[in-house]
Amino acid sequence: MHFILLRWVIVLKVGELIRNFKARDSKDVLLRSPLWSDIDDFLHFINSLVDEGADILANTKRTREEEVDFVSRLITNIERNRMISVVAEVEGHLIGHVEVTKKVGYASHVGLLGISVLKDYRDIGIGQELMKEAETQAKNLGVEII
Ligand SMILES: CC(C)(COP(=O)(O)OP(=O)(O)OC[C@H]1O[C@@H](n2cnc3c(N)ncnc32)[C@H](O)[C@@H]1OP(=O)(O)O)[C@@H](O)C(=O)NCCC(=O)NCCS
Repeated sequence: MHFILLRWVIVLKVGELIRNFKARDSKDVLLRSPLWSDIDDFLHFINSLVDEGADILANTKRTREEEVDFVSRLITNIERNRMISVVAEVEGHLIGHVEVTKKVGYASHVGLLGISVLKDYRDIGIGQELMKEAETQAKNLGVEII
């Protein structure tokens, strides 16, 4: 007799809404997966972090062309279940982002995480909500260790 094990995986697709919450200062925050139309917000986001000298991997500003490549890779990797990505939006603008990239082969149960929130929106609980969501989404992708 053969047994077939089916593992139901709920993976978020591009642009999918996740949930709303109120930040500690009462701002309404929306969590969702990213969209093509986030390119200009992503560009402003990354360049603000670089300007600030934030503790992220990038230290040079990006051009719009480079950002198009970044968003293109991001969306491709989400579609192929290689990573999860969640953006935080306030008043229609992207102000926070978390991503977990799944390693491959024997290490495919391990995910690498990157997180940032724009300076003016820190210390009101948005990073913590992004972390919680990253954990949930990454688990759905089969990641056991972040
Ligand atoms: C780290 C970051 C995303 C936190 O976002 P946030 O919205 O301010 O987070 P919250 O308001 O939910 O929580 C703030 C808490 O995170 C802590 N914190 C801030 N940076 C941290 C870090 N790098 N590691 C661990 N904890 C950190 C704060 O001390 C604070 O702790 P407290 O609640 O006990 O006082 C934000 O500070 C940021 O974008 N920093 C610049 C980029 C960066 O350092 N990214 C992480 C490395 S990839």
